[in-house]
Amino acid sequence: MEKQRENWGSKFGFILAAAGSAVGLGNIWKFPYIAGENGGAAFILVYLISILMIGIPIFISELIIGRKSQLNVVGAYKKLSNNSPFWSIVGYMGIFTAFVILSYYNIVAGWSLGYFFEAIKGTFNEFTTVELASNYFSNQTSNTFWIISWQFLFIALSVYVVFSGVRKGIEKYSKLLMPILLVILISLAVWGISLKGSSAGLTFLFKPDWGSINGRVILIALGHAFFTLSLGMGAIITYGSYFRKDENILTSALWVVFLDTFIAIVAGIAIFTSVFSMGFNPAEGPGLIFNVLPTVFNKMPGGNIFGTLFFLLLFIAALTSAISLLEVITSYFVDQKKHSRHWVVLVAAFVTFLVGIPSAMSFGLLKDFQFFQKNFFDIMDFLSANILLPGGGLLIAIFIGWKFGYRKSMGALESGSEGWLQANIFFAIVGKKVPAKKLSIGNIWFVFVKYVAPILIALVFLKSIGVI
Ligand code: PHE
Repeated sequence: MEKQRENWGSKFGFILAAAGSAVGLGNIWKFPYIAGENGGAAFILVYLISILMIGIPIFISELIIGRKSQLNVVGAYKKLSNNSPFWSIVGYMGIFTAFVILSYYNIVAGWSLGYFFEAIKGTFNEFTTVELASNYFSNQTSNTFWIISWQFLFIALSVYVVFSGVRKGIEKYSKLLMPILLVILISLAVWGISLKGSSAGLTFLFKPDWGSINGRVILIALGHAFFTLSLGMGAIITYGSYFRKDENILTSALWVVFLDTFIAIVAGIAIFTSVFSMGFNPAEGPGLIFNVLPTVFNKMPGGNIFGTLFFLLLFIAALTSAISLLEVITSYFVDQKKHSRHWVVLVAAFVTFLVGIPSAMSFGLLKDFQFFQKNFFDIMDFLSANILLPGGGLLIAIFIGWKFGYRKSMGALESGSEGWLQANIFFAIVGKKVPAKKLSIGNIWFVFVKYVAPILIALVFLKSIGVI
C-alpha cells in the first residue's frame, strides 16, 4: 500500500512554511534594490496591483493544483490533465525554473551568511561611511573563493533541513524563525524613521512619480510579484500537496500574501529611510542592503548585536525559501522516479552548486562577460523572475480557468473553505445581503483566474517588448 503523504502539522504550520518560502531575499534584498532602480513609489504601486489582481488568484490556483493532486509539480499536471504531454512540459518547466533561481539565490544567501560572520567579527565597526562599506562589498564579491565557500556552506545547510522532511524540517524551522525576523525588521524601520532626513526616503517609497513607468518597469514589477510570492513554478503547488483536506485554502492564501507584502514594505521603510538620510544612491543595484545596512549598524546603539541578528535572519529567510525551491526538485524525483529522498537532495543540491558558479563569478572574474549589459547573475535573475515565472503563472491561470474548469475548481476549493466560497463579497463589506449570488468570493476568484490574470500578464509581456 502506498504510504500516506506527509501533511503540515496544522494550518498555522502551513501558513508559516508557505510564508517561509515567500518571505526571503526577494523581500529584503531584492525588493528594495529594484524599487530603488525603478523609481520607487510608482513601481511599488504596480507591484501591489499585480499582487492583488494576479498574485492572489494564482496563489489559490497553485494550492488547488497541489492539494487536489497530492503530487509534485510534474505529477500534478500529469494527473489533473490526464497525462497531456503539453501540461507535463509545463511541469518540467517548473523544475527547470527552480534550478535557474537557485543558481543565483544561493549566491546572495551565501553573502548573507558571510556578512553574518563579518558582523560577529566586528568588521562593521570600520564602516564609518557608506563608501567604505561599499568598497568592502565590491572586494568581497569579486573574490571568487569567498563567494563560492559561502555558497557551498549555504547549500549544505539547506540540504540538512530538506533531509529532515516536511514537518520536522521545513515546518519546525519556519515556525521558530519567522516571528523573530519580523521583530528585527520592525525595529530597523523604526530606527530608520527616527534618522534625520528619513522623510525623503518615505517620499521616495510612497509618493509616485508616474514618469518612471514604462513597459520594462511594469514587467519587472509583475515579475517581482511572482518571485516574492514564490509563484509560477510550482513551489506553492508542492507545498499545497502537503495541505490537509479540511484546511481553508482561501484564508491561508490571503494570510501568506499579506505577511509577504507587509514584510517587503517594512523592509523598504527600513532601507530607504537609511539610504536617504545617508545621502546614498537608491539605484545602487544588488549591493544596496549590503552597503547601506552595515553603515547603519555602525552608527546605531547596539549595532553589533542588531547587525549580527539581521544577517542571521536574512540568511534564515533565504534558507526557508531555498528549501522550497529544492523541495520542488526533490519531490519530483521522489514521487515520480521513486528515488530515495536523501540521495535526490544531495544530487540536486550539488547540481545547483555547479550551475551557480558562473553567477558567483559575475562580480569578479566574469564581470566583463556581458550580454545586453547584463552579467550572468543578472541574466539568470531576469530569465527566471521576468520570463519564466510570469510565463508559468500565465499557464497556471490558463490551466485552472480553461482546462480544469469551473466545476472541478470549485469542488477542489470547497473543502475547508465552504462558508467563504459562497460568501457574497458585498455582503461581507456592506453588511447587507446583496442578492446577486453570482458575486460570491469563489466566482470572483474564478473570473480573475480565467480572464483578468491571463489577459493582464499577456498585456505586460506585449508592452515590455514594445508591441503595444
Ligand atoms: N519567494 C522567495 C523570495 O522572495 C523566492 C522564491 C521564488 C522561492 C520562487 C520559491 C520560488 O525570496
